[in-house]
Amino acid sequence: PFFWVIVPAAGVGARMRADRPKQYLELAGRTILEHSLECFLDHPQLKQLVISLSVDDPYWPSLPCADDPRITRANGGKERADSVLSALLKLAELGARPHDWVLVHDAARPNLSRFDLDLLLGELADDAVGGLLAVPARDTLKRIGSDGRVAETVDRSLIWQAYTPQMFRFGALHRALADALVAGAAITDEASAMEWAGLSPRLIEGRADNLKVTRPEDLDWLRQRWSTRG
Ligand code: C5P
Repeated sequence: PFFWVIVPAAGVGARMRADRPKQYLELAGRTILEHSLECFLDHPQLKQLVISLSVDDPYWPSLPCADDPRITRANGGKERADSVLSALLKLAELGARPHDWVLVHDAARPNLSRFDLDLLLGELADDAVGGLLAVPARDTLKRIGSDGRVAETVDRSLIWQAYTPQMFRFGALHRALADALVAGAAITDEASAMEWAGLSPRLIEGRADNLKVTRPEDLDWLRQRWSTRG
């Protein structure tokens, strides 16, 4: 069975303190965004990929993959969830059906492995709701108080970090996200929209190195690692 992919790439990435949005920073001779797309473009079951971009994005048109017939552009929105909803509307135009699988992946997550992608697709193939790649918290976790001191230590055995891709049925995700946005709910990933709708996404344990580039040191770490691999 095929799947659709959405890549929200309309963020500015202020925490990177760079001269351009972080998905356009260089990593091993290409942009972070190109690496983030690669795993899907290499997959035989990909149907179409929709990328949400800022309307005035000057970087995308010069990338080689901008001409790939399997990639369609959508207009990004104010928040990540708006950018994903815009891409879902584009998927409907492209012929997506309610029961089709949609995978949403961050533009700034360039180190997704084919192993993890196939794991997610395989584990969730028969699932009623869908789910996401995630990683158990490794450090001891503290809740911070208003005075900047530790308020309490949180039980980390119950805490996982939400990664992407996140995989849901087109119809259910579209409904959940649209309703949650109208209601003004705080939606920071697709799973939180599904949770808001009363559904319970499955967590599939993935590799911790499928990290989202957020701060300058994340990119330093990836550059270091990629320069030493054969
Ligand atoms: O800022 P953060 O790292 O949480 O963004 C996650 C993803 O959502 C990035 O790929 C970013 O480009 C995207 N995004 C978007 N539209 C926004 C904000 C973020 O597509 N308005």
